[in-house]
Amino acid sequence: MSKKVKERIAQLGVQLNDHSYHYYVLDNPQISDAEYDSLFRELQALEEAHPDLISADSPTHRVGAPPLDDFEQVTHAVAMLSLNNAFSFDELQAFDQRVRERLEMEADQPVQYMAEPKLDGLAISLRYERGVFVQGATRGDGHTGENVTENLRTIEMIPLRLRTNNPPEVLEVRGEVFMDDASFEQANQSLIAADQKPFVNPRNAAAGSLRQKDSRKTAKRRLSIYAYSLGEVVGVQIPATQALALEWLAELGLPTNSEVAICEGAEACYAYYENIQGKRAQLGYDIDGVVFKVNELSQQRELGFVSRAPRWAIATKFPAEEAQTVLLEVEFQVGRTGALTPVARLEPVFVGGVTVSNATLHNMDEIERKDVRPGDTVVVRRAGDVIPEVARVVEEKRPKGARKVKLPAKCPVCKSPVMRSEGDAVARCTGGFLCDAQRREGIKHYASRKALDIDGLGDKLVEQLSDAGLLNSLADVYQLELEAVAALPRMAEKSASNLLQAIEKSKNTTLGRFLFGLGIREVGETGAATLANHFGSLDALINAKEAELLEVDDIGPVAAKSLLAFFAQKNNIEMINAILQSGVSFPVAEKAVIEPTLAGNVYVLTGSLESMTRDEAKHKLQLLGAKVSSSVSKKTTAVFAGASPGSKVVKAESLGVPVEDEQALQALLGALE
Ligand code: IVH
Repeated sequence: MSKKVKERIAQLGVQLNDHSYHYYVLDNPQISDAEYDSLFRELQALEEAHPDLISADSPTHRVGAPPLDDFEQVTHAVAMLSLNNAFSFDELQAFDQRVRERLEMEADQPVQYMAEPKLDGLAISLRYERGVFVQGATRGDGHTGENVTENLRTIEMIPLRLRTNNPPEVLEVRGEVFMDDASFEQANQSLIAADQKPFVNPRNAAAGSLRQKDSRKTAKRRLSIYAYSLGEVVGVQIPATQALALEWLAELGLPTNSEVAICEGAEACYAYYENIQGKRAQLGYDIDGVVFKVNELSQQRELGFVSRAPRWAIATKFPAEEAQTVLLEVEFQVGRTGALTPVARLEPVFVGGVTVSNATLHNMDEIERKDVRPGDTVVVRRAGDVIPEVARVVEEKRPKGARKVKLPAKCPVCKSPVMRSEGDAVARCTGGFLCDAQRREGIKHYASRKALDIDGLGDKLVEQLSDAGLLNSLADVYQLELEAVAALPRMAEKSASNLLQAIEKSKNTTLGRFLFGLGIREVGETGAATLANHFGSLDALINAKEAELLEVDDIGPVAAKSLLAFFAQKNNIEMINAILQSGVSFPVAEKAVIEPTLAGNVYVLTGSLESMTRDEAKHKLQLLGAKVSSSVSKKTTAVFAGASPGSKVVKAESLGVPVEDEQALQALLGALE
């Protein structure tokens, strides 16, 4: 009996996996959905009755496993690299030229490249041991990622067993997980129906779904994957070219992109790029450029890589998408420091994969420079996850009588006077904590992860508590009462009690966090930690004279003035005292003083970064002992290029200085987290 059952279970497993392959990878189903379901249920029933006979590659494992507390770390046997970017045909040609020189190619001999769409999702690694899928991980920082095996198992396009009778001992496959347009629409529709926030774009949707602690939720989303390279391979000869590697992966049952092509030389590469750009909207999934890889793997090995990016590949990214729409009006938002940011309210327009109805105008200088006026037709630009911006005005379409935007004399929230100091692009509300907008933003900041880290006191709840009149200052956080909080809409006794517990817990903190939480202008996270380390107590800092403040590393005259002004205000001192009286204390040691691990290195920053400003990046690099220079020379250790970098990248490449992306920068700064 058991032998028969065992055989049937094995047979069903093979059949179901085979049908999945035809359905999901080849897009060519062999049986009806009903037939598939019936086989699936038969297997489920047998496995339930004989749990000892369940195999590691059973298709029933695709429905998700119980949730995890946290993802384990996985160290990649072969690092997962990132790519350098080319932003023009010239840069692509320069790349080709460098490759030719290194490979000592004859003048009339073109390099063969494999051109592949650059999928806009997230890189993952799949590990097969003797043909069975055993582990899947995210890229992480390239060396260590997160173990997302259970989540990946739910993606039907991923074979749970390779389609070969003679599997290699180990095969690591690298590829991109993404969500196609149709699944993205579907996911968002169900989120909206469940009264939840929809995803901004397919990439966020893919990343959010894959990093679910509960893989049963991942199973409900339809994720796709294309395999594009090899990681660790043991026990088999690897193919001679990238093209053959892709063919091999396809034979093993892995999905590969059919849009790839071999291109000889830079011109052919550029033609491919233009062709794909034309097809972009019809692909059915998002791509953000093209990747060109030297086809011969022996040549790839010869070229090697510089720090984290290979010399044998380059990504040519598409320019930011633009669209025209009408500027309805300009409103001013008041931020935590009182800064008035003009925001363009737009006729909704679809650009860069999302519908945009607001765009930043940065500040008054920018408005004047671009001469943006309500009623204007404007060009809106959006790249990747960057905040949409108004690129320029279409002047021919300006309606008659369109008026210039004026900086309001009074704060739109609290009616305090607005001040703009000489030479400062930013205008500010002078209301301080008296301004409702500044107070709310200040409280959100105080509760945030890098400050007091009050679990559960997120932006929405701060708004709710403020609306209810329960939060009028930072000190009010400690006066919240169970009953009043529980009575708020969408709150209950349990959630209110959790919040109060989190507030209690956050009272034991560090001086650095507290200082950062106060939101003093010019005092960021690292500045606050440095001040805490230097003065050791809040009293010493409050009583410090300007000269003493200036002795602190990284505290310049502007930050010193701002600290003095903050502590000179009686209401600020009263607020601090009230907070301390509620039991906030600093028994926890400050973070150890940071090791200057980058001493001797010289970096150049260019282009716009997404996760931080260039100034922040500069500051952090300096904290780690590095120098940050504004021009590239032979002494430059590396250039970090964000979106739309300038000529510095070209210069770096001509000098052979490595050009790295933001991910590499973040990895380097990881020590500061
Ligand atoms: S190859 C050196 N091929 O782009 C090998 N990457 O900027 C690096 N990507 O982390 C990967 N499509 O997430 C490669 N066809 C493709 C790709 C691709 C998208 C992503 C991948 C990688 C990032 C590098």
